Amino acid sequence: MTSLSERSRSGPAAPRRPLDAEAVRAAYARWARVYDPVFGLVSAPARRRAVSAVNALPDGRVLEVGVGTGLSLPLYRRGLRVTGIDLSPEMLARARAKVVREGLDHVEALLEMDAEDMTFADHAFDSAVAMFVASVVPNPRRMLAEMRRVVRPGGTLLFVNHFAAKGGLRLAIERAAAPFSRALGWHPDFALDALLTMGEREEAEITPCPPGGLFSLVRLRNG
Ligand SMILES: C[S@@+](CC[C@H](N)C(=O)[O-])C[C@H]1O[C@@H](n2cnc3c(N)ncnc32)[C@H](O)[C@@H]1O
Repeated sequence: MTSLSERSRSGPAAPRRPLDAEAVRAAYARWARVYDPVFGLVSAPARRRAVSAVNALPDGRVLEVGVGTGLSLPLYRRGLRVTGIDLSPEMLARARAKVVREGLDHVEALLEMDAEDMTFADHAFDSAVAMFVASVVPNPRRMLAEMRRVVRPGGTLLFVNHFAAKGGLRLAIERAAAPFSRALGWHPDFALDALLTMGEREEAEITPCPPGGLFSLVRLRNG
């Protein structure tokens, strides 16, 4: 990656390359080993909120999109049947090891699959949840469309994510970090309207989550 000083020597920065599937796999192959200690703590309160929302639903089949290293898997109540998908084999290997180590019988399957092009049948799940994934996938609206397809009508769709601030210092920092998206493995300046249409934003239940509202929980009913 070009450093800031190299860039100023060689003129203007190259145009931003989007975070495509290849970049996601490369980033999370690097992140897998250190993901839990580095990201586990800061994400824990928001993750608990999302899993609590899932746990309050009736028994049924839950799809966790971008399950990563499976940090949330031990938190689901037994009675739910959970399937996780992820693009990164290294992240999935960690999740599979957790399932075996902790005897997580409620986890039905962990599959290498693209959230934007799932192989599940229509209406195969009662709910789907994507935690810290919307700002990573190349096309978040396509992921949402796929989640809508595989969840039954009337089912629940949940997202936990960091969304760009509307202004102020936080937005300035997010924009400054944006050119490093490929190396980071997510878009720091990811906006809510990159995921939801205006109609969906009006319909969604959006709750700020700790720490300090850095993350938000978004809940949609599958129409
Ligand atoms: C920030 S991590 C979040 C992991 C997990 N949800 C958690 O709460 O810790 C993002 C995850 O999304 C996965 N991911 C990114 N794009 C994906 C896609 N198109 N399909 C499936 N998984 C994807 C990455 O491989 C990574 O494991």
